Amino acid sequence: MAQRPFIVGNWKMHGTRAMLSEARAIDRAAQRLMKVEVAIAPPFTLIHAVHREAEQIGVGAQDCHHAEGGAHTGDISAAMCADAGAKFVILGHSERRGDHGESDACVKQKADVALAAGLRVILCCGESLDVREKGKAVKFVTDQLRASLPHIEDAAEQLTIAYEPIWAIGTGKTATPQDVSDMHVAIRALLVELYGEEQGSEVRILYGGSVKAENARELMDADEVGGALVGGASLTADSFMGIAIAAAEVFEG
Ligand code: 13P
Repeated sequence: MAQRPFIVGNWKMHGTRAMLSEARAIDRAAQRLMKVEVAIAPPFTLIHAVHREAEQIGVGAQDCHHAEGGAHTGDISAAMCADAGAKFVILGHSERRGDHGESDACVKQKADVALAAGLRVILCCGESLDVREKGKAVKFVTDQLRASLPHIEDAAEQLTIAYEPIWAIGTGKTATPQDVSDMHVAIRALLVELYGEEQGSEVRILYGGSVKAENARELMDADEVGGALVGGASLTADSFMGIAIAAAEVFEG
């Protein structure tokens, strides 16, 4: 595997300044694990503070607005995230799609705006339990991606996909390694179709949904998995770095 595994913590709506000590602990541990690219996406209110503390880890945002700027009370633009120290933004998370009614077209617009502002994009996709039980997960996810993916031109390293089955998020349930392989192989085929062999092969595909140190090895070992997007287990340095260590072992072979 040419690229380092990418292990990203999505802190969601958790974290006040009291959590900065945890970010520092993650950063210190990441300095001893250079084989893994470690990053966290704290809430907007902590981006700048984490950015100032971090020597090794990447810092990102969990969303940005689809417009470059303007009269949008309470919203945050991609350029503002970058100005605060974010290097990437998570877009199209199922909690955003669900809580805020974000459509594929809206996610695509956000991704284009974020890339133009110099942010890397982690674009999320994933099916509901109902869709999976009907046997339509691969078609649903590839259709969702087809409609949400940005133009990347020659900058595949700016884009990462995160496959997060909705029914696995925060539930303790994970997809089986075989289901993860099947989905990631289908996503890879789509990326190659849309962006060409060279660019499409370079985009990393993360798995997300109840990843923990205990299940990380088998999930990271599935085909076309380039890392993990971690929610609950990213809130403490111990549990988060346990996942990063597992990823390092798998990717070292
Ligand atoms: P959990 O790891 O808590 O299941 O959350 C996954 C997720 O939604 C990351 O974006």
